[in-house]
Amino acid sequence: MNMHKSEKVWLTISFGMIMLFMIATGYQAFALGMAPPGGVELIDPQKVNETAPFDQPGIKQIGDNEYEVVMTLQLFSFTPMELEVPAGATVHFKLTSKDVVHGFQIVGTNANGMIVPGYITDITQTFHEPGEYLVICNEYCGIGHQVMATTIKVY
Ligand code: CUA
Repeated sequence: MNMHKSEKVWLTISFGMIMLFMIATGYQAFALGMAPPGGVELIDPQKVNETAPFDQPGIKQIGDNEYEVVMTLQLFSFTPMELEVPAGATVHFKLTSKDVVHGFQIVGTNANGMIVPGYITDITQTFHEPGEYLVICNEYCGIGHQVMATTIKVY
């Protein structure tokens, strides 16, 4: 086969670039642990009720105006349903699903996540302004998807 010299050069360069990107990506993912966020903590979705901390969903103060909320999502609700925190509170949500893929979106904030059965998702949100924050499921999960919502009261 007769290959033009510049063709060989460019083939070598592009192959070299592919190798370089693969090495860089592999290095970031495995050596630096820069895998996509979330999905690293696993849970048996059949045993959410027996698995800590999801055996006791609720809110717990962990610092000066800092809270941890352990929450399960299921067809078609959030547990716990009612949450109240003071203004300025930073809330660390620990979320998992008991059945299908749900969404967790706090309307009017950047807090937004896909809650996949088998995985634990961590979302942190600081509530600067008092008010009622609507939390909705934004992944279609079945017939009751439209009514799957709750509120967080910030006083
Ligand atoms: Cu849960 Cu849509």
